[in-house]
Parts: sequence; C-alpha cells; structure tokens
Amino acid sequence: MSNIVEKLTTDQESDTLENIHREKTSGKVSDKWESYLKVYDRTFAPLKDKKISLLEIGVQNGGSLEVWSKYFKNAGAIVGCDINPLCRNLTYQDPRIHLVVGDANAAEIIKTVTQISPRFDIIVDDGSHVSNDIINSFNLYFPLVQPGGIYVVEDTHTLYYKSHGGGLERKKTATAFFKLFADLVNYEHWDSKRTIEELLGNFSSGSKLPEEVKAGWVESVEFRNSLIIIRKELVPTHAKLGARLIVGADAAVVNLKASVEQAASTKVSKASRKWF
Ligand SMILES: C[S@@+](CC[C@H](N)C(=O)[O-])C[C@H]1O[C@@H](n2cnc3c(N)ncnc32)[C@H](O)[C@@H]1O
Repeated sequence: MSNIVEKLTTDQESDTLENIHREKTSGKVSDKWESYLKVYDRTFAPLKDKKISLLEIGVQNGGSLEVWSKYFKNAGAIVGCDINPLCRNLTYQDPRIHLVVGDANAAEIIKTVTQISPRFDIIVDDGSHVSNDIINSFNLYFPLVQPGGIYVVEDTHTLYYKSHGGGLERKKTATAFFKLFADLVNYEHWDSKRTIEELLGNFSSGSKLPEEVKAGWVESVEFRNSLIIIRKELVPTHAKLGARLIVGADAAVVNLKASVEQAASTKVSKASRKWF
C-alpha cells in the first residue's frame, strides 16, 4: 500500500489507535506521544482483528491497557507489568486485562507473566527507559515474542540523557545495541569471523544475549524518533536476502544471467563477489 493510500485508510477509520487514545476522556490515564500512535496504526493494522496477546512493560496509571484492549477488540490477553506498588490499586472490568506488579526483569515476574500468556504477538517496553533495563528486557522478553511478532521500545529519546545511562557519544547504550541490529540482519554478508555474541553479547549486566538473536530470529530493526521497532521472523534464518530473481529476456546492457552464473561457478567468497 502506498503511503498516501495508507494514510487515507487510517484517517477514514474511526477505531484507529490514535482516535481511541485521543477520544479517551474517562477511565484511567494513558500517556503516549502522538507520533507513536500514527506509527502503531500502520504497524499493528495487520494484527488489529486477530486474537493477539500484548504485553506492556510500564503501565503507570493503567490507561494504555484500556486503549490497547479497545483497539485489539479480539485480543486474548492484554498484560501490563509495573514496578510501582500503587499499581496494585488498578482494577479492570475487562477480564482480558491482567496486571503484574513487580520488576519486569525479575525472574519471578517473568514467570508470572508467562503463566498468563506464554507468548506475545506484541511487546511494548514503556518501563524505566534506563539503558541497561531496556537491553535486559529485550534479552529476556524477545524469546517470548511469537514468530512474526513485534517488539517495541518507547521513549528512546531518554537514551540521549546521561541520567538514563545514555548519551550520543556513549558506546554501550541501548541505542548503540539496537543500531548493531542493522549489522545483525545483514549477517550473511559479513566479511569478518566475528560472532554475533562478540558483537552484541556484552552490552548489559544482568542478562545474556538470547539464542533467538544468534539463530536469525531478528527480521528487522526500525528507528524512529523515540521508538525502536524490532520484528521477529516467521522462521529463523540468516539467509534473509533469498534467491536472486533475474527475469525478462532482453539484457541489452549487461548480461546479468551469464555474470551471475560465472560468479556462482568460480569459488570466490560471497563478500568479494562483484554485484552488478
Ligand atoms: C512512562 S510510564 C508508563 C506509561 C504507560 N505505559 C502509558 O502509556 O500511559 C513508565 C512506568 O514504568 C514503570 N517501571 C519502571 N521500571 C520498571 C520495571 N523495572 N519494571 C516494570 N515497570 C517499571 C514505572 O513505575 C512507570 O509507571
């Protein structure tokens, strides 16, 4: 769908996430930047009517869970987790909404979360926004994302703040970690014997890089202002480029088919091949 068509479609619908959020005048408070809602409307549209499970780390006043539950009307489980004990006072009429109170990265809390739903189609990290916590949460929760699912980190502007373990020049921030996912998804083209563990394994204290990352489950990483969106593959693979599909009959300028066959028959490494 072109951006224009996509925009028209989402503008015409009344039950967009943006509309649901903007029109929420009662119930619990929800706090989102408007640009996120527009991105979410495009990103989550294919999942909107499905029986999804969603986890949000950090719920504060709890209103975002009400917004998610209204948008994903067929959702099976909407789970929120917050470290603030005051969140124990939050109650919901909707039986699909569950709240777990405690540190999202603590083993017993992850166990409680997975007892509610063992896997999630969408995970949104809107928790502490501290660099080390964000990496730990990704390492601990990305394995729980369903194949084809989506992991979102919100408010990554904080990763430019020293108070949150960030800063443009800092080497070990969550932003620096996720920037390397651009290399991760291009793993099949690496000209180095460096491993994925060596590249990404020593960014955090408190968690290990999950096997899923090393096995090729990361499909893509998308950077937006204050948002990082990671998609999980349907099946794990590092061979993401796929087959080269040269079609048509007339190659009046470069005989691509012959060049590709010649390159394939000579034993040159993929990285040193000349790509036309
Ligand atoms: C920005 S607020 C969440 C706002 C909410 N998602 C919304 O859209 O309205 C961040 C919340 O994360 C919670 N938090 C911070 N560290 C956390 C942790 N380690 N585990 C779970 N929640 C955490 C805080 O208590 C706070 O309520």
